[in-house]
Parts: sequence; structure tokens; C-alpha cells
Amino acid sequence: MKHLNRIVCFLLIAAIMLCSCGSEAKRTTQPYGEGAPSLYKAFEGKFRVGAAINSWDLDDPTSWNYQTIVQQYNTLVLENESKPDAIHPSEDQYYFDKFDKFVDFCEEHNITPRGHTLIWHSQVPGWFFKDGNQDASAELVLERIKEHVTTIVSRYKGRVKSWDVVNEVIGDGEQLRFSDWSRLVGDADGDGDKYDFIEAAFIAAHEADPDARLMINDYSLESSTDKAIRMYNAVKKMLEDGVPIDGVGFQMHIGNGIDYDAMKENYEIIARLRDINPDLMIEVTELDVNCYGWGEEKKDVEVTKEFLEQFSKTYTDVFKLMLELSDEGILDSVVMWGYYDGASWLNDGHQNYPMLIDKDHNLKDAYWDVLELAD
Ligand code: XIL
Repeated sequence: MKHLNRIVCFLLIAAIMLCSCGSEAKRTTQPYGEGAPSLYKAFEGKFRVGAAINSWDLDDPTSWNYQTIVQQYNTLVLENESKPDAIHPSEDQYYFDKFDKFVDFCEEHNITPRGHTLIWHSQVPGWFFKDGNQDASAELVLERIKEHVTTIVSRYKGRVKSWDVVNEVIGDGEQLRFSDWSRLVGDADGDGDKYDFIEAAFIAAHEADPDARLMINDYSLESSTDKAIRMYNAVKKMLEDGVPIDGVGFQMHIGNGIDYDAMKENYEIIARLRDINPDLMIEVTELDVNCYGWGEEKKDVEVTKEFLEQFSKTYTDVFKLMLELSDEGILDSVVMWGYYDGASWLNDGHQNYPMLIDKDHNLKDAYWDVLELAD
């Protein structure tokens, strides 16, 4: 009897030790190396998982950055180096070296490169809008759009699979954002809408690479039903006019906490565009979780237990919906805007907590919670 008790006790302790070792081994914190998990592998067959990076991340194949990127992602985008001011700073100068290096890297590692972005009101050089000291005419701006888009898209024909052809063109209160593009081009074709600069960009991109996925990308589509409806109306009108729009990008710069049902409803509004273009796709293009609200006073983030639970729930809510959309066949790519807290654009003077990998290079619990959704 005494012996039996001892044996039972021993077995119990051994079982507890095994369990705790098991879960520790499972939730490792290293994003690469032996036994490391992989986000993209976990979601293979559902959607690609990606990140925004910078070309310098690719300089040293032995570096933490390089190894992490290769292990975790199967789609990538450049954070700044493929924007108009970087690629085409003056009318007769193009700089393609960073983008070339990026696309070569992607091909070498079987990663799908995205192109961000051809036309945007921000990070765009002023020459596009000038004719000497005067404003450029609608005709001249349209000509420049055509030249710019054709040159870039045709250079990467068959290689860059998905382009944010236009970025942030929908208004926050009005239908269309007021920008130099919309102001100067206006309703050039006289058909009653001012989508003409957008149409010109899509048409040129389609001519340059008919197989590339051409996207219209914007923020707050998941949280503002009004904005989702404005996006729906704009794309509907352009599709009906024969403009080759293949998809809508949800940037998804979200806060810590999201209303799941509202988010789902807003995605469904955009999904209804499939009544007009049955092949239309949705992509998540810039996901991150800001721990501060817009306009809120910033301090270094306090990572409490409640905060972490909420953070994990925010990410898992998003990935749950993405799995649903992938099952419906309308979504095949989820890209995060950065890949670890240390390099996020949201660290403007204060430490933020936006990504699934922390500033010290460790996988967060939220990373594992997301990963386990894929099981
Ligand atoms: C941001 C970059 O992350 C910053 O480094 C840069 O200073 C400004 O642009 N929406 C977009 C992205 O479409 O291009 C922006 O990227 C973030 C918001």
C-alpha cells in the first residue's frame, strides 16, 4: 500500500512536470531557429501572412531581422521604399534599386511581393502637380499618371502580384478625399464623377500587367460603416464603367479592442461588390494594434494583465474573421505593418505595443493565440 502510494505520487509528479515542460516547449519565444513556429506555415491553405519591411532588413542573411522574416512570412511589402517620392522623386528620375532588391529577395525565398503604392496624396513629390510655376492641367496630370504607373508596373510585370494602385482616396466625411490629384484632374471626362485620376491609374496598371491584382487601399473601412459604404459606391461606379479593379485593401490600423460584429458587417458591405465583379478579393494590407487612441496623450505603454488579454483578443478576433473570409474565398492575404514592436511606425517618441513580436525580439502570447486559431 505504502509502495503503491509512492508510485502514484511519483507518476503524478512526473505527469505534472511533463505537462509544464510540454507547454513551455510549445510556447517558445524565439521567432526562428530550431523548433521555432511559423505564422505563414500555420495559415497555409487559408491565406498568406505578411509584413511591411525595409530593404535594409535584407542586408545580412545571418541577422535576426532577415531570419525572422524568412521564417514567419510568405508575403512582404516595403514600408516606404516603393512609394512615389522614393521611386520617382523628379519627373525624369526613377530609383528602382531598393525595389529590385526586394523583389529578388522575395523570389529567392518563394515570398509573394506586394507593391505599395502607385498613387497617394502623401509621400508624393510636388512635381506631379506643377507646370512651371503654375498648377498642372488635368491633361498633364493624367499623362504623368499614365507614364508613372506604366513604367513601374511593367518593370515588375509577372513578379509583383498585388498592387495598391491608389491609397487613401476615399474621404472621411465626403465621398472622395480632397487632394492635389482630385483637385487638378477633377471630372476630366465629364461623366459626373471625379474618379478620373483613379481610373487612369487602374487602366494604365492593367495595360502594363493584366495578371496583377489591382487594389484600392484605405483605412477605417472596418470601423466606419459610412466609409465602407463610400468605398462600395466608388468601386461599384468604377466597375460599372469598366475600370479594372480587382480588390479592396483594408489597412486595419486598429486600436486595442474591436467590435467583432461591426467589423464583420463592414467587410460584408465590401464583399457585396462581388455582385458586380465576382472575382473581387479583399486583402488586409497594414494590420497593427495601436495601444493609444487617436489624439490620446501618449506615455510609454503599461503592459498590464488586462491590457495583454485585450491585446490578444483584438488580434484573435481579426484572425478569426479572416479565417471566415478565407473560407468564403474572398480573402487570401493578411499583411501586418511591420514585424516587431521595435521597428513599428507607431513608436513616435513613445514605446507602443502594436505587433505580435515584442521590442526585445520575443514572440508574444498573442502570437501563440493567433497561431493556435489555425489548428
Ligand atoms: C507610413 C510608414 O510606416 C512611415 O514610416 C512613414 O513615415 C509614413 O507612412 N498608411 C499607409 C502607409 O498606407 O504607407 C503608412 O506608412 C501608414 C499609414
